[in-house]
Amino acid sequence: MILQWLIVLLVSVCSLVALKLPNYITPCSRSDPNHNACTLASARAAVPKFLKGDRKIGLPSLLPLKYPQSSVLNGNSLKVTLNNLTVYGLDNIDIKELQFDYEARKVKFKSFNTQLDIKANYTIDGRILFIPLQGSGPCKFEFINGTYEYNYEYGIETRNGKKYAKIISARSTCKYDVEKAIFNLQNLFNGNEMLGEQTNRLINENWMLLNEELRPSINDLLTGVHEIVTNVFYQNIPLDELILP
Ligand SMILES: *[C@@H]1O[C@H](CO)[C@@H](O)[C@H](O)[C@H]1NC(C)=O
Ligand SMILES: *[C@@H]1O[C@H](CO)[C@@H](O)[C@H](O)[C@H]1NC(C)=O
Ligand SMILES: *[C@@H]1O[C@H](CO)[C@@H](O)[C@H](O)[C@H]1NC(C)=O
Repeated sequence: MILQWLIVLLVSVCSLVALKLPNYITPCSRSDPNHNACTLASARAAVPKFLKGDRKIGLPSLLPLKYPQSSVLNGNSLKVTLNNLTVYGLDNIDIKELQFDYEARKVKFKSFNTQLDIKANYTIDGRILFIPLQGSGPCKFEFINGTYEYNYEYGIETRNGKKYAKIISARSTCKYDVEKAIFNLQNLFNGNEMLGEQTNRLINENWMLLNEELRPSINDLLTGVHEIVTNVFYQNIPLDELILP
């Protein structure tokens, strides 16, 4: 009788443990000499699945990603405030590099994305070159063929006896580069359609200028986006089940 109970107990404990890690995640061992290759292959297989969400382990879908904060993009000569941000196309990602430094708790994550779009409600005030910019309304920024380098540090939290990684915002940065960016600001100048259209055309003929002006702020915004995505993952999957000794 006792033996039967023990077996039942053992089986259920085993299945609980087995349930923890979804089958699309392959754990890697930090003592593996090809560790970086293992984490890269594992992430490349897991990320597209995990972005879709996984109810079994409490992962929400990130397609699209609702960004909770408002974001202020500051240029030398203009200021853009974005509200109600939504990020589309995270699943166009192609992960290029993933390197862990376990001693320093630092990670380098490099990716390429063919098309990443941000939609938001904007307010803009200022000028770019000789073009005055003023207005508010819906906007869309498209980043085509972008490379993103996210360098982050993480801390460790213990919950229910398990260790979870959590990004340290102040020590994390993202830098991007794009082959092309497209900026679309609807309802510029209080909805003056002709002026709005001409201005959007001028901006996009000179998109590199606006991109350079806003780059530091967009880097910050993308740091936030990467942090949310990475934390959703880390907060639901214990680190010691992802990374074996
Ligand atoms: C946008 O965000 C503001 C607060 O930041 C909120 O009041 C508003 O309901 C949100 N939605 C839309 C569609 O503007
Ligand atoms: C911007 O705000 C309007 C309402 O003022 C709303 O209908 C629209 O969906 C918003 N756009 C975004 C991207 O949130
Ligand atoms: C983006 O990259 C693809 C190939 O990966 C290329 O065909 C396309 O022309 C590029 N687009 C831009 C806008 O550079």
